[in-house]
Amino acid sequence: MTDQACPVEWTPDLSVGIEAIDDDHKTFFVVVDLMQSAIRENPQNLEAILRSSITILQEYVNGHFLREERAMEAAGYAKLEEHRALHEEFKAKAQQIIETFNKITDHDEQNKVAQKLAEVVHSWICDHIAKVDMAYKDSLKAEHVDSRPLAFLSQEADEGGDDNDFDLLSMIPEDGPH
Ligand SMILES: [Fe+2]
Repeated sequence: MTDQACPVEWTPDLSVGIEAIDDDHKTFFVVVDLMQSAIRENPQNLEAILRSSITILQEYVNGHFLREERAMEAAGYAKLEEHRALHEEFKAKAQQIIETFNKITDHDEQNKVAQKLAEVVHSWICDHIAKVDMAYKDSLKAEHVDSRPLAFLSQEADEGGDDNDFDLLSMIPEDGPH
């Protein structure tokens, strides 16, 4: 999908039918938009905004991928390994750009690299959601998904992610009023 075909905001046709995952996807769009508007408007504290956007992005990538991979695991999804490999590929690509960003001190160069990162993330999310995430839509159900706020998952991803025990039953909410 080209950048042109990728909307600036999440759209309902990108829904995978699970709220927690859709919410993560929406946040990727928000972070990309934050980076792009900051670069466009060029505020005095641009570098600080870019740095915090990159930190948020890294947290989101780690936590969100863990959320998806655990859900695919819980659902016994056949294409899990294939999907995981694509996540790893993207993480490596984003990480490489972030490392380049961290090494340069020239502001114009930093802006260019940050712009590139925003573009890469933007076209990747559309492409990945539409082609790869959509493929699990019929296999993944809400009960497979750890729907806690993403901060918990990012934290667990930092601590080693999949090696941790994941008690799915404790994630299933009590039955609310009908
Ligand atoms: Fe995915």
